[in-house]
Amino acid sequence: MKQTKISFPQGFLWGGATAANQLEGASDIGGKGLSSADVIPFVPPEKRVQDHTMEISSDTLARVVSGNFKGHFPKRHGIDFYHTYEHDLALMKEMGFKAFRISIAWTRIFPQGDERQPNEAGLAFYDRLIDCIIKNGMQPVVTLSHYETPIGLTQKWNSWIDRRTIDCFVHFADTCFKRYTDRVKYWINFNEINMILHSPFTGGGVLIDRIPEKQQQQAKYQALHHTYVASAIAAQKLHETNPNALMGCMLAATPTYPLTSDPQDVWKAQQVNKVRCLQFADIFVRGEYPGYMERFLREHNIKIHRSQEDLALMKANPVDYISLSYYMSACVSSSEDTAKPGNLVQGVDNPYLTKSDWGWPIDPMGLRILLNELWERYQKPLFIVENGLGAQDEVSADGKIHDIYRINYLRQHIQAVKEALKDGVCLIGYLSWAPIDLISMSTAQMSKRYGFIYVDQDDYMQGSKKRIRKDSFYWYQKVISNNGEIL
Ligand code: BG6
Repeated sequence: MKQTKISFPQGFLWGGATAANQLEGASDIGGKGLSSADVIPFVPPEKRVQDHTMEISSDTLARVVSGNFKGHFPKRHGIDFYHTYEHDLALMKEMGFKAFRISIAWTRIFPQGDERQPNEAGLAFYDRLIDCIIKNGMQPVVTLSHYETPIGLTQKWNSWIDRRTIDCFVHFADTCFKRYTDRVKYWINFNEINMILHSPFTGGGVLIDRIPEKQQQQAKYQALHHTYVASAIAAQKLHETNPNALMGCMLAATPTYPLTSDPQDVWKAQQVNKVRCLQFADIFVRGEYPGYMERFLREHNIKIHRSQEDLALMKANPVDYISLSYYMSACVSSSEDTAKPGNLVQGVDNPYLTKSDWGWPIDPMGLRILLNELWERYQKPLFIVENGLGAQDEVSADGKIHDIYRINYLRQHIQAVKEALKDGVCLIGYLSWAPIDLISMSTAQMSKRYGFIYVDQDDYMQGSKKRIRKDSFYWYQKVISNNGEIL
């Protein structure tokens, strides 16, 4: 077969992605308020009842907030990027990054979430950070809400369960647009919007144990609906402030395969794929609830309060592009449904795939399948804003980190992206998660490392914090310098 010679377009945005709560630290500096990420305590793996630490009970939250909980909170410390960003961004520049994704901690700007006057110290920090990204030759890509809802809103009205949160978010978003959109073109409304259904506290600051069990699903979908309305109004405001700026949605995108060719399995995989992943993009792109979701809601007796005005706003303000994280695929069977590790993914083992140190299936082909599916379904530009391998790295006797496993993972995934481009997919860029080691979202471990840059710090924040270039640093630098021609 003839090989087609299409590759990464000129101007393709190579780079890396981060989130404020996982790297900034400085949670008690500059008037910052408490966010959902700040109150998740570290639980050593051997003491965990689940493979993640993303939810918290009302009781634990009350104890944490009142200071009666003695624990370690890694996301309050991050890797101290708040103070080291100039040095860290110089390393990104050394790799040749064209783009760098950050998020704005809502509680640096509005410490309780519902103030009217923004906190100038917080705004000034992001001025400096964004300027520094640009000075180093990178486009900032900015997420508004990346798993750090103000605890003030959780305490007042259980956050996104209540409509009043829409107005607070829109005010936060609009404040950011007015301040930064002269310098920021690419915006993302909510990181992995899917999460609010699977982990309502991490996804949206919602304490689900405050809701009677029978009404919990209803409450999650109501909260999700509020985020859709908030996103629509925010997109409208962004375009009013700067018509050239772009608003993207962000999906935790996990293609779901049937375990066998049994039509029952195929049907189940299709349904799971829609409910877990595509429903969000369907709504953000087309501005309306798809028929299969109306049926799902009816059959699960979920009645969302959605006004005509809500629906009109959603219809009038679709997103400009679709951003996504990709780590793994999932597999389901109509006869079995065993929970397997993964942030969101449950299903059965796919016998064709190997797994990461944290049990996440490794599937580069899944990325090509996914990109093709999303492009054909929506015909909107796609942007990979997360992809990477969480692994246990060791510093060798020579003082270096020989992370060949990470290079192999990334090489295979970028090769899959290349094939998708040849398939005709329109892609803005590829941002690896995360270019520098930071605190894991799902387990709050430092030892789950993704970076091209090693940070000498352990799960209890002990270490020199020295940054060391891993082997993958030099590899990615070469990939970017030849625009993905040689992987
Ligand atoms: C995505 C999140 O789900 O996956 C990131 O947007 C997260 O915040 C990343 O860090 C990897 O997950 P984890 O749990 O390994 O940090």
